[in-house]
Amino acid sequence: MSEDKITGTLAFTVFTAVLGSFQFGYDIGVINAPQEVIVSHYQHILGVAVDDRRATSNYAVNSTDTPLPVTPAYATPAYATPAYATPAYATPAYATPAYATPAYTTPAPLTDKEAAGSAHLITVLWSLSVSSFAVGGMVASFFGGWLGNKLGRIKAMLAANSLSLTGALLMGCSKLGPSHILIIAGRSISGFYCGLISGLVPMYIGEIAPTTLRGALGTLHQLAIVTGILISQIASLNFILGNQDRWHILLGMSAVPALLQSLLLLFCPESPRYLYITLEEEVKAKKCLKRLRGAEDITKDINEMKKEKEEASAEQKVSVIQLFTDSSYRQPIIVALMLHVAQQFSGINGIFYYSTSIFQTAGISQPVYATIGVGAINLIFTAVSVLLVEKAGRRSLFLAGMIGMFFCAIFMSLGLVLLDKFSWMSYVSMTAIFLFVSFFEIGPGPIPWFMVAEFFSQGPRPTALALAAFSNWFCNFVVALSFQYIADFCGPYVFFLFAGILLVFTLFTFFKVPETKGKSFEEIASEFRKKRGAAKPPKAAVQMEFLGASENA
Ligand code: GLC
Repeated sequence: MSEDKITGTLAFTVFTAVLGSFQFGYDIGVINAPQEVIVSHYQHILGVAVDDRRATSNYAVNSTDTPLPVTPAYATPAYATPAYATPAYATPAYATPAYATPAYTTPAPLTDKEAAGSAHLITVLWSLSVSSFAVGGMVASFFGGWLGNKLGRIKAMLAANSLSLTGALLMGCSKLGPSHILIIAGRSISGFYCGLISGLVPMYIGEIAPTTLRGALGTLHQLAIVTGILISQIASLNFILGNQDRWHILLGMSAVPALLQSLLLLFCPESPRYLYITLEEEVKAKKCLKRLRGAEDITKDINEMKKEKEEASAEQKVSVIQLFTDSSYRQPIIVALMLHVAQQFSGINGIFYYSTSIFQTAGISQPVYATIGVGAINLIFTAVSVLLVEKAGRRSLFLAGMIGMFFCAIFMSLGLVLLDKFSWMSYVSMTAIFLFVSFFEIGPGPIPWFMVAEFFSQGPRPTALALAAFSNWFCNFVVALSFQYIADFCGPYVFFLFAGILLVFTLFTFFKVPETKGKSFEEIASEFRKKRGAAKPPKAAVQMEFLGASENA
């Protein structure tokens, strides 16, 4: 079919759009490896002297009395003694990184109480530096669709980029001022950008892609996210930007794709669906379609958009409250939210935000390289999932991924618990982390993002998607903020906790989540009725075939 070709303009436009997803991934991954070096900078500028004894301590934040025993740094879990309390320059745990050179003053001896208080302040500041990103994302996730409708997709992405540039600027200059404040503010603003584009990019791509390429092009969003994660991990290498002199440049580097995207967006066509359905500008819509499809006949697209427009006007918009009070929406929205909660509470971002310190704890001698390994595996398995998702069902892949992650989480903790007895346990932990990430990308990573759209028809879909994105970001925030505390509290047992959570969500998926692959909306709705054991037809009597990811927020 002529409509299903990827033209130069389409490829260029999709590439430009996913530069936003790339920034999203970059911001997720960038905070991981430079944790130690930034934290030691916080300690320096805040005048929080480093207690030498803590560098080799098994007790961290709440140790207030006993003298601290001396153990090798690698036997000191980053959880028990957060990485910042084990500055590499005090006890180099691996190799001799550039920041191993003590650049900052001689620390004054601290009382135990002072040490605990300082460590607590730094934990709070670091956790906020990581999690403020998710706060921004959480708030903004509600506004992506709204902004896209208000300004149009292109102008909305351009406006969003001004946020990304502001965030990058604050972080890029953070060495010049109160770094902790600039980083926390910069990451909140960057998070706001990411929350906006996590709605805008999939929507725009879904709208410009030809029908039969919608799924494949849609998954490029997740692929660009994981590429961004990997690039940030490579850029974080000590000899590139992850060192004492250049960490601020590392944080500010997301300005590069932001600038590039802003420039390229000027040459991208507006979404024909937005022009036709929302603005009713048929002539402009046809012009953009012709550009996207080359000089081809565009009748098929126009007919499809007409049908979509009729459906959109036939169905009422649905409010958040209605999603929970109307019995035909309740079951799907609960399942939709649970999929996102499960994705985040699997602990995946615990790995992406903190893997370097986890690997260090597990006794891996080059934790930064292991983190890059995680990024590479993540990218490979996202690609595998793109190939599998239309063959195996969504439900089966999600279940398989969750079960795999459950076993990996157990082995991750076992590896840490037994590390003192068998040094080869570090390899068990490392392999388990790699497999954990692989299983995540096979199913629980990409599936919730597009499966939710399949649960709902045109009317409730935008509200359901906004709510699902919000729950995803909210849980992302909870994990980002609390992971270090939970890890401090549970020590090497931390992943047993995630295993328990994974088990609960696996059972939930088994009993409550229907298969949606190859099914029309009506068939999916009836699956939901079967699952809740009711024979009642859905209230919104929409007799339409589900149209892939063609929703209009
Ligand atoms: C998914 C998650 C995101 C995570 C990423 C890792 O996109 O929503 O939070 O960081 O996968 O690949």
